[in-house]
Amino acid sequence: MNWLPRPADGRSWVAPSLLAADFADLRADVDAMAAAGSDLLHLDIMDGHFVPNLTFGPFICQAIRRISTLPLDAHLMISHPAQYVESFARAGVDAITIHVEADDDVEETLLRIGSLDLKRGISIKPGTPVDDILPWLDRLDLVLVMSVEPGFGGQVFNPVAVEKISDLADRREADGHDFLISVDGGINAETGPVCRQAGADILVSGSWLFGARDRAARLDLLRG
Ligand code: DX5
Ligand code: ZN
Repeated sequence: MNWLPRPADGRSWVAPSLLAADFADLRADVDAMAAAGSDLLHLDIMDGHFVPNLTFGPFICQAIRRISTLPLDAHLMISHPAQYVESFARAGVDAITIHVEADDDVEETLLRIGSLDLKRGISIKPGTPVDDILPWLDRLDLVLVMSVEPGFGGQVFNPVAVEKISDLADRREADGHDFLISVDGGINAETGPVCRQAGADILVSGSWLFGARDRAARLDLLRG
């Protein structure tokens, strides 16, 4: 198990989304992102059902595990996450983040994730209110706020995420929880700092980070 504490005040951890990597030369991109100072890696798992796109599963996660010691967060954009929890655990990911909008029972799925000693995350789409995940805030390690409709990289940031980040940060403070707050979709030099100031602990970035000539500079800019 390999996970992160809360970042220092005013800073964020940065998680490259490998969706934007070159899968024909994945090792080179993973190594380059590690060398540039990434804090963890974000793995986008899509089933062609929960979202209209397909990516990869535990097999590729296991390959990434073999070439990286960074913490791995598997963002499961799949309708039936419960039946795959064991496979992702065996693949060596550190955290599993499910969608509250998926079809499986959230309580049961979180129990499975926790019983395998993995970090438990829940993600909400732009149209889903924070209220929908309140029953689980006390047992979460991560809340992933989507700032685009899940399914594709390279979309434009939806500012509805900023209010949700602030709301989650306030509730965490008031109720003494200790989950990390992450934001995913359209993160760049403008939107990243706004999310960090609102209370985001992890900034996920795909196309903007991978598209950079100087990835370390963009990572530093996001980290604050
Ligand atoms: C979208 C994914 C994101 C995506 C972010 O469904 O969850 O992780 O890769 O990509 P950018 O940073 O390009 O919006
Ligand atoms: Zn993602």
